Amino acid sequence: MAVLVTGGAGYIGSHTVAELIEHGEKVVVADNLSTGHKGAVLDVPFYAVDIRDSEEMTALMQRHDIDTVVHFAANSLVGESVQDPLKYYENNVAATAKLLSAMVKANVKKVVFSSTAAVYGEPERTPIEESDEKEPTNPYGETKLAIEKMLDWSYKAYGLKSIRLRYFNAAGAHGTLPIGEDHRPETHLIPIILQVALGQREAVSVFGTDYPTPDGTCIRDYIHVMDLASAHRLAVHRLRSEEGGAESFNLGNGSGFSVKEVIEVARAVTGHAIPAIEVERRAGDPAALVASSDQARRLLGWQPEYADMSAIVSSAWAWHSSHPHGYDDET
Ligand code: UFG
Repeated sequence: MAVLVTGGAGYIGSHTVAELIEHGEKVVVADNLSTGHKGAVLDVPFYAVDIRDSEEMTALMQRHDIDTVVHFAANSLVGESVQDPLKYYENNVAATAKLLSAMVKANVKKVVFSSTAAVYGEPERTPIEESDEKEPTNPYGETKLAIEKMLDWSYKAYGLKSIRLRYFNAAGAHGTLPIGEDHRPETHLIPIILQVALGQREAVSVFGTDYPTPDGTCIRDYIHVMDLASAHRLAVHRLRSEEGGAESFNLGNGSGFSVKEVIEVARAVTGHAIPAIEVERRAGDPAALVASSDQARRLLGWQPEYADMSAIVSSAWAWHSSHPHGYDDET
């Protein structure tokens, strides 16, 4: 029995592989390395395969006695998805349909799927609960929601069980293994702030100061990547039990931090002034996204360990300061 992790060379994927190995799971990684890093693949069997290659995917599931797939492989840039929606329908929706076909063929009937807070769009209330309205405001969120629906129907038709984990804002790094966040291009707030602290950027741009929030900047729910990883491990356990079917869980800390607050925390953690420039809003940013993760706590038994924002930023800083050029620093 083993777990196949698609996208296991990516940020959240590689940290989940670490968590699974640390808890005694046999893990196999499939990643076409389009955005992942070879250096992020831990010491497990690795296939540089595209999930659309159904024949190869079916064969490797059989070869390694896979019982559960943890599916990360996807494109995940909100802005890019607006510019090129068909890329997201192709690489997220169509590719996942191929992967599920390979799973059905190999008789693998359990999948943990990497979903997102972007399925909710502009939320009607916070904290957001799983049953709240889903009106994605960009093709990225739309394609993730389409896959969730594909999984609903696949449960009814093939008995393929799924847990969809809707992440809020992932941050931080493993801590002991040399894996962390390295996106090219980098668009996320915390790594960008830390690049300023490293002297790689002059300043961080604050996108919008006229939101209906206490300090006018956007509020997000930051969650440590190893807390996301532990939720995946618990989801695998739940799928293997008699429980579950086709379920979705939010993953966040339940408390929001504004852009200005995150910058303040990073100034304290790094001891760097981190100049900030106030600029226009970025298109498509909701004012506040904060999760209710009660269901994940109740049904998965999930307990995030890093609720403290400065612990999350310190963890990210430890990786960025020891790997200022990301995986290019690994030899
Ligand atoms: N921000 C800045 N300056 C920057 C970068 C970001 O002010 O240079 C702001 C953004 O406007 C936003 C906040 O910081 O208000 C967080 O932005 P990120 O880009 O780090 O994260 P997002 O909240 O936009 O996106 C994250 C995930 C997406 C997911 C989304 C769910 O990265 O994959 O949450 O809404 F879709």
